[in-house]
Amino acid sequence: MAYNLLKGKRGIIFGALNADSIAWKVAQRAFEEGATFTLTNTGVAMRMGETAQLAEACNTIAIEADATSVEDLENLFKQSMEALGGKIDFVLHSIGMSPNVRKGRHYSDLDYSYLSKTLDVSAVSFHKVLQVARKMDAINQWGSVVALSYVAAQRTFYGYNDMADAKALLESIARSFGYIYGRERNVRINTISQSPTLTTAGSGVKGMDKLMDFSERMAPLGNATGDECADYCISLFSDLTKKVTMQNLFHDGGFSSMGMSMRALTQYEKGLGCDCECGNDEPCGEHIFD
Ligand SMILES: NC(=O)c1ccc[n+]([C@@H]2O[C@H](COP(=O)([O-])OP(=O)(O)OC[C@H]3O[C@@H](n4cnc5c(N)ncnc54)[C@H](O)[C@@H]3O)[C@@H](O)[C@H]2O)c1
Repeated sequence: MAYNLLKGKRGIIFGALNADSIAWKVAQRAFEEGATFTLTNTGVAMRMGETAQLAEACNTIAIEADATSVEDLENLFKQSMEALGGKIDFVLHSIGMSPNVRKGRHYSDLDYSYLSKTLDVSAVSFHKVLQVARKMDAINQWGSVVALSYVAAQRTFYGYNDMADAKALLESIARSFGYIYGRERNVRINTISQSPTLTTAGSGVKGMDKLMDFSERMAPLGNATGDECADYCISLFSDLTKKVTMQNLFHDGGFSSMGMSMRALTQYEKGLGCDCECGNDEPCGEHIFD
């Protein structure tokens, strides 16, 4: 259902690769709510993904930009303001990528050039977006900027690897820049910590299916879907949340406040076997921990 919450607002949405992408769902909802916006992604993603089709459906354009390139970001803001006819009211940063995860490097054996890339793409790019926007004075008063995060920023999750460090940095950037941009121009900056969601980036996480099952059993409201995440983003872009800033907002059905649920405990009791990765019904005697 549409409420015209973003009528008259202009935005930039990063990270819509295909119909599974959280950013894709945000774009669809923003369009329904009356916003005009540009879409953006890397050149490779634009060629391999379906960003152009989404742009057509939302009556807009897709602008190529690598979010780690300041020059690309300057061009993106300039072109977006020209195409939309004014300054920007909302930005979605929905970007994540870890070469260490992709190449199967263990957290205790990271490749440091890959780690730099993980941090640059998944976190520092958020700072770059904000710094470019501020220098160009590209965001309107009471504008809203949202980036997507994950609870591995606060707590250790098997298999999330160096993306956990990237998310911790991302959330810190939201606070540090939120102070500056809020004080100066009333621009609010938040991160949404979303449930595990089946997307291209999500499926790269080791044991994603089990992780989703576990958090579904733990969360009293169950996992939040990509569509529900889009709804939450729309509320943060709207004028109904004008005093919310510098927050990491959990959108996870209650998962992050749980210790143990009956559903998870019951399932756990069914599978009390060996403690390690071997999966044996009995202790194997030589525990192998990843
Ligand atoms: N899927 C999940 O379980 C989950 C949970 C919590 C948070 N998130 C976060 O949500 C965000 C969106 O991920 P998603 O799950 O929709 O997956 P996705 O793979 O659909 O989106 C990731 C996007 O990042 C883009 N990207 C990668 N490198 C880039 C670069 N250098 N410049 C610009 N764009 C670049 C990709 O092209 C892609 O569109 C990410 O920040 C992710 O960490 C995902």
